[in-house]
Amino acid sequence: MAIPELFIDELVARSEISDVVSSYVSLKRKGGNLWGLCPFHNEKTPSFSVSPERQIYHCFGCGKGGGVISFIMEMENLSFPDAVRLLAKRAGMEVPEGDTDDQARKKKARALAANRDAARFYHEYLKSPGGARVREYIAQRQLTPRTATRFGLGAAPDQWDGLTKALTAKGYSKMELIDAGLTVAGKNGGVYDKFRARLMLPVIDVRGDVVGFTSRILPGEEGAKYLNTPETALFKKGRLIYALNFAKNTKRPNLVLVEGNIDVITLHQAGFDNVVATMGTALTEEHARILARYTKELVLCYDNDPAGKKSTDRVLNILKNADLNVRVLQLPNAYDGEGKPVKQDPDDFVKKFGPAVFEKCLNSSAGKNDYRLEVLIGNHNLDEEEGRMAFLKEAVEAVAALPSPIEREIYGNKAAAAAGISGAAFAQEVERWRKNRTWQAKKKQQRRDLTPAVQLQPKERELRYTNIRSARAEEGVLRLLLLEPALFPETERLDEGQFSSPVLGKIFSLLRQRHREGRSTQLAALAGVLTGAEMSHLASVLDQPEDLSNGRKAMKDYIETIETEALKRVGPEGTDPLLAAREKYREKKSYGG
Ligand code: GTP
Ligand code: MN
Repeated sequence: MAIPELFIDELVARSEISDVVSSYVSLKRKGGNLWGLCPFHNEKTPSFSVSPERQIYHCFGCGKGGGVISFIMEMENLSFPDAVRLLAKRAGMEVPEGDTDDQARKKKARALAANRDAARFYHEYLKSPGGARVREYIAQRQLTPRTATRFGLGAAPDQWDGLTKALTAKGYSKMELIDAGLTVAGKNGGVYDKFRARLMLPVIDVRGDVVGFTSRILPGEEGAKYLNTPETALFKKGRLIYALNFAKNTKRPNLVLVEGNIDVITLHQAGFDNVVATMGTALTEEHARILARYTKELVLCYDNDPAGKKSTDRVLNILKNADLNVRVLQLPNAYDGEGKPVKQDPDDFVKKFGPAVFEKCLNSSAGKNDYRLEVLIGNHNLDEEEGRMAFLKEAVEAVAALPSPIEREIYGNKAAAAAGISGAAFAQEVERWRKNRTWQAKKKQQRRDLTPAVQLQPKERELRYTNIRSARAEEGVLRLLLLEPALFPETERLDEGQFSSPVLGKIFSLLRQRHREGRSTQLAALAGVLTGAEMSHLASVLDQPEDLSNGRKAMKDYIETIETEALKRVGPEGTDPLLAAREKYREKKSYGG
């Protein structure tokens, strides 16, 4: 671990969780806990709780939870060390940066430098005689030399080690180039360039650093059409937004999200400096969070082929919880010589019709509700009774899901008009549907509350329990230890291997180890070693009631249960089928079977 553990323990002790959370979420006291609207999912009634006593937060709605460091990681979208640095600043403490951390930082700086030098190399090569083919291709795509320079476009030589040679001559080791994702290790110890004979597009983050590349194949070559830098510490596709370094400074009122990198470049050249794209991957919630930081309105402009429409739908779903006003720009259909529909992307469109027409489309792009309604209308034949009924069923559901009554009225009226019925009749259906749904949700919650086994299951599939009975006791052990460290000596005879849940077992070992070393066993201090899902689960475990008045007895009972269950799995001393059978019999009897 980069930052000394003792420092983290100290930091956790000095960061009161309710203070930290309060600067993001407005909290009200109710019982022993503080409650507020969860910052991690959309909700209208508070299910997000902070326990000053246990120094944890936990949302009953989305299941997120943890201690003070996890909160900052989640909230500010930071890595563990960065969250620690932020908290330390807040607490007025100076982070002692350890050696390993220094090394990691140096490594990162080297990788950044290598990527920047690579971008320079490719750009220079583009202007050299060897770059002729790529230059021609850029011209063919109607991109000007000025645009090429602005976006730092380059050419990868048609050689095995053009870049590797140039950068090793500049002092980079082969290992550094491999780490930076620029060079690939071959089978017999040799290395070769990752990108060869391609159009190079540097990917620049919002700080202006080159963090990697995407590259396009040249016409007539074989291989992947687009090839990216592999996932590295610098290049994280789930986070990167292409051209955001430019678009963040736009004067336009929104950002436009397109599918392709070249679409972005063409549109910027055409005067739309607010266009961005993900790196060919589906939009993630993280992307959405980042975008929401830079704009209030996002316009989706995906290709107008079935794949693009499907992506639009998926993106709308992901953006449901984002703090963004979303619109959809659907490019008009295009047809080939025989009248068959063909794919048209923003790049094709703006070249064919010019910026003014694109601007018009942008200004008249539909709000996301109108778009959804249009899609629904397009999916049904409203001239026929059957089509109308099917449409109404889906439209009622969609409108009922809209959060505000005003939206429901506006889109309800539109949908009703499309199907030729009265707005009042439609609204009645919507209300009926909503009542029904609230009732169902309530029922579902009741069922959940009545089924401790389900309630006990972690949200993440990988963490699911195989032995609920044992897991419940294992959770009890952890809860007692986290609440009452004086009980650690009671667990001497317990062993990680006896845990039925590997995760709970791992946490148990971790806690005991820390306790033996005299370190903090507060949940918050574990943020650096457990995953977000593990932290969330542990917070939910800790958030359950526990009677501490006779902690030793409770601990004893829990341990007994764990031992009995473990014995059933392996048999005593490894295997004794007789005893295992007897245990089974006893269990049956105690269940009245
Ligand atoms: P151009 O022919 O360059 O205009 O691309 P396009 O308009 O056909 O774009 P397409 O819809 O094929 O791709 C859109 C985006 O998806 C690209 O900008 C890439 O980011 C990504 N993409 C497309 N093909 C590949 C591929 O083979 N591999 C990877 N990793 N990404 C791809
Ligand atoms: Mn294209």
